[in-house]
Amino acid sequence: MNARPNRFETNADGWEGPGGPQDLYFTRDESWPYPRMVRADNIYLYDENGTQFIDASSGPIASNLGHNNRRVIEAMKAQLDKYPFNTIRLARSDENIALAERLAAFAGAGFERPFFVSGGSEANEAAIQFARQWAFAHGDVERKRLFSLMPSYHGGTICAQMLSGDDAVAPIFEGMTTMPERIEAPLTYRPPDGLTQEQNEDRICEHFEARIQALGPETCLALFMEPVGGLATGANVLSGRFLKRMREICTKYGLLMVLDEVMSGAGRSGKFLTTHHHGDDCKPDLVVLAKGIGSGYIPLGIMLAPARMVDELSGLTGFNYGHTSNANPLACAVGLATLEELDERKLIENAASTGAYLKERMRALAETCPIIGDVRGLGLLQATEIVADKQSKRTFSSDAKAPDTLRTMALDYGLSLYARRTNNGRYGDWVMTSPPLITTPDQVDEMVDRFEQLFTAFTDAMVRGGEAVA
Ligand SMILES: Cc1ncc(COP(=O)(O)O)c(C=O)c1O
Repeated sequence: MNARPNRFETNADGWEGPGGPQDLYFTRDESWPYPRMVRADNIYLYDENGTQFIDASSGPIASNLGHNNRRVIEAMKAQLDKYPFNTIRLARSDENIALAERLAAFAGAGFERPFFVSGGSEANEAAIQFARQWAFAHGDVERKRLFSLMPSYHGGTICAQMLSGDDAVAPIFEGMTTMPERIEAPLTYRPPDGLTQEQNEDRICEHFEARIQALGPETCLALFMEPVGGLATGANVLSGRFLKRMREICTKYGLLMVLDEVMSGAGRSGKFLTTHHHGDDCKPDLVVLAKGIGSGYIPLGIMLAPARMVDELSGLTGFNYGHTSNANPLACAVGLATLEELDERKLIENAASTGAYLKERMRALAETCPIIGDVRGLGLLQATEIVADKQSKRTFSSDAKAPDTLRTMALDYGLSLYARRTNNGRYGDWVMTSPPLITTPDQVDEMVDRFEQLFTAFTDAMVRGGEAVA
């Protein structure tokens, strides 16, 4: 256990004068402590006092290559010296062309034309606008309606925020942009009473089709789904069976199917894209990537679209969407270095094998720990669900502030964790157990040992506070 008093600051501590850290924007009455990180290497972060933390969630599932990756850093330095900025309305760059070609090879047929932006929210925004402009250019002017799963997360811009299935934020922005139709996500841990997982999936697919029919297929534009969820679902995995059925419905009624692989893509699931785990009959029209493709070294987001659609659209209206930093050469150089690392060090294969080992070890821990209800995910995109009562799968009360308490306590056990309540805890509480793709089995052991101590202390605290059943 890391023992140093008053090590972390909170925004309730106040801040003298102007400026201050970004977290001053967060609520003061729920003020959580933050260490000041000053150095990072491999899967480890170090604060100002030299205390070491395992980056157990890769930040917000972004640091896929871990820290201090020399290939990426050297590529960035070289690019800064060569040509750091370009704007796509005025000129082409070698780095844009090289990354697009390499990415298309990784992504395979149907994803030949990457479009580069600066993050996941922008990439989802690009996908929404691409879908709309595609429909408009083909005379389907009424097709505007979007569908997304409940719960889900697709980003922080107003449109991406509304696309996200989160009741806690919806009332704030309602009316500022159109609300998408929400389709229940097939959550695997708590399917509705009396239904098997397959029956639940069928029920949801039938509901999706019925909604399209009721609203009028000619008004329906696209369906967005995370094939493996992030913080909104705690790494809930959509089955191939479910994806296939949703694909069939989209095709039948002319909707585009978009997979948001901002977290699950770029190798994290154990394949380059999660859709590669499934057959062509599950294939989406568009895929959205971010986070791991820039590996935390630079903001980079990508929409992958088929050449067939992009080339046809460019003969009609073209795709009119852009930002100053589209296909920024420095960001493209990082993307290229990331793909080279994935390839040469076989990190996608490592995500599969080390992910399987991590799941096995966390599931073994769950056997003996009264508050671990579920361990799920794919590859190294995993979450551990915490419950107040394992028998009934009861969630913690909101007073317990369980994910934030766990995240705070984790700092004392050398773990930096991504955990925050979403949807006011309606669907449960979890912590992302998703370390970088470079993690070795020995490092999994080190991490799980720390988790064991953390969960013992957290269980004690929750039982003592009357929040959990031992
Ligand atoms: C599935 C998913 N989509 C989109 C986003 C938004 O990405 P960004 O924060 O890079 O804008 C996130 C971020 O957490 C995400 O998890």
